[in-house]
Amino acid sequence: MKKILITGINGQLGYDVVRELDKRGYEAIGLDRKIMNLTNSEEIRRVFNDISPDGIIHCAAYTAVDAAEDNIELCERVNALAVKDIAKCAKYLDIPMIYISTDYVFDGMKGINQNNVDEVDYTIEYNNICKEFYLEYTEDDKVNPINVYGRTKYEGEKYVRDILDKYYIVRISWVFGENGNNFIDTMLRLSKDRDELNVIDDQVGSPTYTKDLAPLLVDMLESDRYGTYHATNDGYCSWYEFAKEIFDVAGVDIKVNPITTDMYPTKAKRPFNSKMSKEKLKNNNFRNLRSWKSAVKDYVENIK
Ligand SMILES: NC(=O)c1ccc[n+]([C@@H]2O[C@H](COP(=O)([O-])OP(=O)(O)OC[C@H]3O[C@@H](n4cnc5c(N)ncnc54)[C@H](OP(=O)(O)O)[C@@H]3O)[C@@H](O)[C@H]2O)c1
Repeated sequence: MKKILITGINGQLGYDVVRELDKRGYEAIGLDRKIMNLTNSEEIRRVFNDISPDGIIHCAAYTAVDAAEDNIELCERVNALAVKDIAKCAKYLDIPMIYISTDYVFDGMKGINQNNVDEVDYTIEYNNICKEFYLEYTEDDKVNPINVYGRTKYEGEKYVRDILDKYYIVRISWVFGENGNNFIDTMLRLSKDRDELNVIDDQVGSPTYTKDLAPLLVDMLESDRYGTYHATNDGYCSWYEFAKEIFDVAGVDIKVNPITTDMYPTKAKRPFNSKMSKEKLKNNNFRNLRSWKSAVKDYVENIK
C-alpha cells in the first residue's frame, strides 16, 4: 500500500484529503504542527526520513492574509522556506509533490487596466460594467502578488518548480470545507444577529469546496501529467453574489448590500479579478469540479 504524507490535517483541505486517500485505499499519514512544525527544517527532514513516503500533498500554510502583513518573517518561513525543505526531501526520495497555491499570486488587474478604472468614480454601477471585462488568468500568465501572503506562496511555487520535476502546483481560491472557518460560516454566523450585511461586489473569483478538490488531487498523484494547474469549482461570482447564494440555499431572509473594496479597508490588499481558467485541467484529461452553486448547496446541507 502506498504511503502518502499530508500536511495541515487540522485545516480545511488537509482534513478532506486524508479522508479521500483513506477511501481510495492509501495509507494516509496526516501531519499537524505537533508532529512536523514547518518552522523547523530539521524536523521536516527527520519526518521524511523516518516515514519514507511515496508522495506528499502539502496543504498546510500560513493562511492569515491580513496578519501576514505584520508577520512577514513567519509567513515567509512557513509558506516559502518550508516548501523548499519539503521539495528537497521529495527530490531526495524521488517522490511526487503536490503544492497548493493561490489566486493571490496574481495582481487581479487582468482586463481591468484597459478600462481605466482609476480615472472614473468608483461606484457599484461602474463596477458592474467593469466586471464584465475581467479576463480569466491562465497558468502561464505573469504573476504579480500584491500582498505578503501571495508573495510568499509564489516563492513556494518557485522552489517547487526549481527543485522538482515530479510536481503539481495547484492554484485554488475562496476555499470552504467542513473542517474550519470560511466565508460561508462567517456569513451564516453574522446573519444570526443582523438584518442586513454589506458584502464586496467588485472582487470576482471562484469558490473551491475542499470535498470536490480532494479527489482531483488524488487523481493527480496517480498520474504523471505534472505541472501547474488552476482548480476551483466551476463558474465565477463576486463575494456579494456568493453571499446571496449562501442565504438563498440556507433559506435565510436577510438584506445583502453590494459594496466596493474601498468601502471595506483591510490590512492586506486583495486582487479584484481572481478569475482563473480551468481549461488546462480539461485539456489534460483531469476532472473539472462541478459548479460553485452546486458545491455551496451541498456544503450548507452538510453543516446543518
Ligand atoms: N483558505 C483559502 O481561501 C485559500 C485560498 C487559496 C489557497 N489556499 C491554500 O490552500 C491550502 C489549504 O488551505 P486551508 O484553507 O485548508 O488552510 P487552513 O484551514 O488555514 O489550514 C492551514 C493548516 O496549516 C497549518 N499550519 C500553519 N502553520 C503551520 C506550521 N508552522 N507548522 C505546521 N502546520 C502549520 C495549520 O495548523 P494549525 O491548525 O495547527 O494552525 C492548519 O492546519 C493552503 O496552502 C492555502 O495557502 C487557501
